[in-house]
Amino acid sequence: MIDGKKVLFSGMQATGSLTLGNYLGALKNWVTLSGEYECFYCVVDMHSITIRQDPATLRKRARALLALYIAAGLDPKKNCIYYQSHVSGHAELAWILNCYTYMGELNRMTQFKDKSAKHADNINAGLYTYPVLMAADILLYQADVVPVGVDQMQHLELTRNIAERFNKLYGDVFTIPEVYLGKVGAKIMSLQDPTRKMSKSDENPNGSIYLMDDPDTVMRKCKKAVTDSEGCFCYRPEQPGLKNLIDIYSVCTGQTPADTVAEFEGKGYGEFKVAVGEAVISVLKPLQAEVAKLEKDKAYLDAAIKENAEKAQYYATKTLRKVQRKVGFPDRIR
Ligand code: TYM
Repeated sequence: MIDGKKVLFSGMQATGSLTLGNYLGALKNWVTLSGEYECFYCVVDMHSITIRQDPATLRKRARALLALYIAAGLDPKKNCIYYQSHVSGHAELAWILNCYTYMGELNRMTQFKDKSAKHADNINAGLYTYPVLMAADILLYQADVVPVGVDQMQHLELTRNIAERFNKLYGDVFTIPEVYLGKVGAKIMSLQDPTRKMSKSDENPNGSIYLMDDPDTVMRKCKKAVTDSEGCFCYRPEQPGLKNLIDIYSVCTGQTPADTVAEFEGKGYGEFKVAVGEAVISVLKPLQAEVAKLEKDKAYLDAAIKENAEKAQYYATKTLRKVQRKVGFPDRIR
């Protein structure tokens, strides 16, 4: 609790081009929840270097991501928006938590398995302990709730296990976080292979809609989206391509999948795909315009980063000192 409010933490990686999945599955919910909680939204640049990055590009993308958070509607005066690398407590707590996490647990992480298969030439220790840094992010702020997409649920479960283990040993140190999943859109699938999630690193660029795609590109990708030959406008797992498009349309227009089915029943897939394209464009256009405006306002972004990093550092240090004491590190002489 901070000032009588429950705490929310979430973050995103500044790698690759963000997709509609990142927006509908996470960022959009962050904005909805932001009034209700004391919020920490982090640009997780330390997680990004588990995969080799070009330094100048990473720096640029991290800043663009921060601008995106604000453009999406997160006011930096009301939400603590900052870079993970600016708050040293993330790395310090991660080290401690590494000593309370079992290799057996990390071996089970599906994202580690996927990423090591994709980057077989660079399976570094950071990639392996990535979920522990994520646990540190969350536990450092005593977060009550963590809004993410379905793909992060396994990491959240591990975070809870680590926290419970630590609390069992040392008393009530950490708040046990709950995961928050949006009712619709928590797993947006690839437009070309609707059995796989929409991903930044998809080799087929038609599978993902990127947040910075122009309207023509968005429309072309939606028209090309894989559906089926059933010819029935139904919302069911047997028609994963159509189901995914219904999810996208529903979240973009703020209605339920049942409303969407009622709206398009008896109409052709072609007509629906155009409507999906239009709905996505109507969400992305204002977002892109706002990002472009913010990226030009260097002074505003710099001030927001500085203030918020100091605030995050304050709360992070509070938890870190408590943890350091519990594990037996000597007190600091003031
Ligand atoms: P990242 O950067 O891969 O994704 C950011 C957020 O977007 C969600 N997401 C999706 N949601 C729905 N459909 C999709 N196709 C889709 N693709 C991505 C993710 O679930 C996530 O919520 N490890 C995290 C970042 C992180 C973090 C944290 C998150 C680091 N520390 C602490 C929460 C709390 C990651 O790589 O997310």
